[in-house]
Amino acid sequence: MKVLVIGGGGREHALAWKLSQSPRVSTVLCAPGNPGMQGIQTVPISDMHALCDLAVKERIDLTMVGPEAPLCDGIVDLFRSRGLRIVGPDREAARLEGSKAFAKAFMNRHGIPTAAAAVFTDSAAALDYVRTQSVPVVIKADGLAAGKGVIIAATIAEAEAAVRTCFEGAFGEAGKTVVVEECLVGEEASILALTDGTCFVPLASSQDHKRIGDGDTGPNTGGMGAYSPAPVVTPELWKTIEREVLERFVRGCRAEGMDYRGVIYAGIMVTAQGPKVLEFNVRFGDPETQAVLMRLDSDLAEALVATADGKLQGVELAWSDDPAVCVVMAAGGYPGTYAKGAIISGLEGAAATGAVVFHAGVSRNSDGRLVTQGGRVLGVTARGATLRDAVAKAYRAVDCIHWDGATCRRDIAAKAFRR
Ligand code: AMP
Ligand code: GLY
Repeated sequence: MKVLVIGGGGREHALAWKLSQSPRVSTVLCAPGNPGMQGIQTVPISDMHALCDLAVKERIDLTMVGPEAPLCDGIVDLFRSRGLRIVGPDREAARLEGSKAFAKAFMNRHGIPTAAAAVFTDSAAALDYVRTQSVPVVIKADGLAAGKGVIIAATIAEAEAAVRTCFEGAFGEAGKTVVVEECLVGEEASILALTDGTCFVPLASSQDHKRIGDGDTGPNTGGMGAYSPAPVVTPELWKTIEREVLERFVRGCRAEGMDYRGVIYAGIMVTAQGPKVLEFNVRFGDPETQAVLMRLDSDLAEALVATADGKLQGVELAWSDDPAVCVVMAAGGYPGTYAKGAIISGLEGAAATGAVVFHAGVSRNSDGRLVTQGGRVLGVTARGATLRDAVAKAYRAVDCIHWDGATCRRDIAAKAFRR
């Protein structure tokens, strides 16, 4: 089987890495990929139509889409219209991630627990409304804003400023609709599942670390590290999440005529009143995937084929009991402005520790050396007999790797130890 992975970050590296281990897979292509994806054939193409032509020409049997943008642009509809097998929601269903207002209305229609919210397309009405709210209150720009469109306002003045920022266009088109939401309190967990449109198969639980700084301080990022499993998701909570979130999600998509054969990512806040959905993503999480796939014993290619073909019924995935941890190494300054082009060294030493280094924001300079190119540069991922072992192994590998300005959080998985 020939497989195409679309995207170029750490999540896609992990997907390509896992898919290449399948005895059923002869070739994995990653487009555009990145130069750090050793052993994976990369193709420098990002345009949806060119990708579709590539899949036809290369006789690709299975395409897996990493990021949300192509899904929201309708890549699944395009591939299916040409008879290609692809994993992901169609364009309409991708709005569950692409529009927070759409997702909120969907959750309310189908009884999925979430924060109370109101949606505004008019700045004055939004301002009047936030003045009646208690703080903290959450202001969200409606569309895709690369993880930056969510502001947790501690005062009414901050909330007003956030509303104005959105409507003034700081998040582009995304800010023309604003969701004002109750602030939920609790611990977060990432719940991933495969669905073939009829049933779902949950993946192992995980927890992301969204803030840049140790102790969950500083601004939000795309995610600075993850571990799996997340002990906050007790077996009892799992059952509630399956019943109240995943089942209702799949049934809701079906009832509304969406073609959703892909990955469900529910960002959950575990509150005193039970689990509530913060957001849905229509794809694998980054960096959760790096940690989760490290624990998957089953054949990922088989599971994805079943997902795309509507044959997930009865599929069960086998997981290692050993926990896994992914520590993201970022360029200094991220999530603000950061330097590019710093030479990365120490990767051989890191590999010798047994950790796996997934490459994200990297490129190659004119001397052929790997250099930094993005904010999140590497996802250093390790599995261990215990979570402490996994953490120790991941940081041993991190400490082998150097570039000017490299930073990472030092407390990935610390919340699990406090339980
Ligand atoms: P989202 O993109 O909607 O997941 O928001 C990004 C992050 O903002 C979440 O992972 C939470 O940490 C935080 N967040 C979003 N909505 C809320 C809320 N209603 N209450 C508290 N925190 C929130
Ligand atoms: N780690 C958060 C996300 O993938 O959206």
